[in-house]
Amino acid sequence: MKESKRRILFVDGPNLNVLGEREPSVYGAQTLADIRKTVSGVARREGAAVAFFQSNHEGEIVEKLQEARRGADGIVINPAGYTHTSVSIRDALLFSGLPAIEVHLSNPAKREDFRKVSLVEDVVMGRICGIGGYGYVLALQALLHILREEKPRARR
Ligand code: DQA
Repeated sequence: MKESKRRILFVDGPNLNVLGEREPSVYGAQTLADIRKTVSGVARREGAAVAFFQSNHEGEIVEKLQEARRGADGIVINPAGYTHTSVSIRDALLFSGLPAIEVHLSNPAKREDFRKVSLVEDVVMGRICGIGGYGYVLALQALLHILREEKPRARR
């Protein structure tokens, strides 16, 4: 039986729409569009379908994660500042029931104490931090690996 394309949803939180201009010494010179272009190229080679979503609003991210339950097989999420504060994004990730990878461009463990707390770290499969935009590519590959290993399951 031919395997159907894996569908991976990328979710980015607040201020990631201004990557490239925002604190480039911390987050690098790449824009979100640059990162998405690279990820799309890798997805094409891997035979995966990718969709991208960025919002500066917590409720919009919650709604996207709720919808993902039916429209995706896995999630790559950089909740940005909400990583450290949002119970609602954590709850929506759990609701999605999907395997997820948490990505951060910077390494929060090396930064201010308030960034050392992640409210999603224990509901994701794993975390990729401090590799810049390439972390998104690694997260895609990790998720595809996890999904390949997983027993086939019915699509919702
Ligand atoms: C970030 C780290 C967060 O602490 C910060 O609020 C961000 C970006 C990162 O990708 O390094 O907005 O998630």
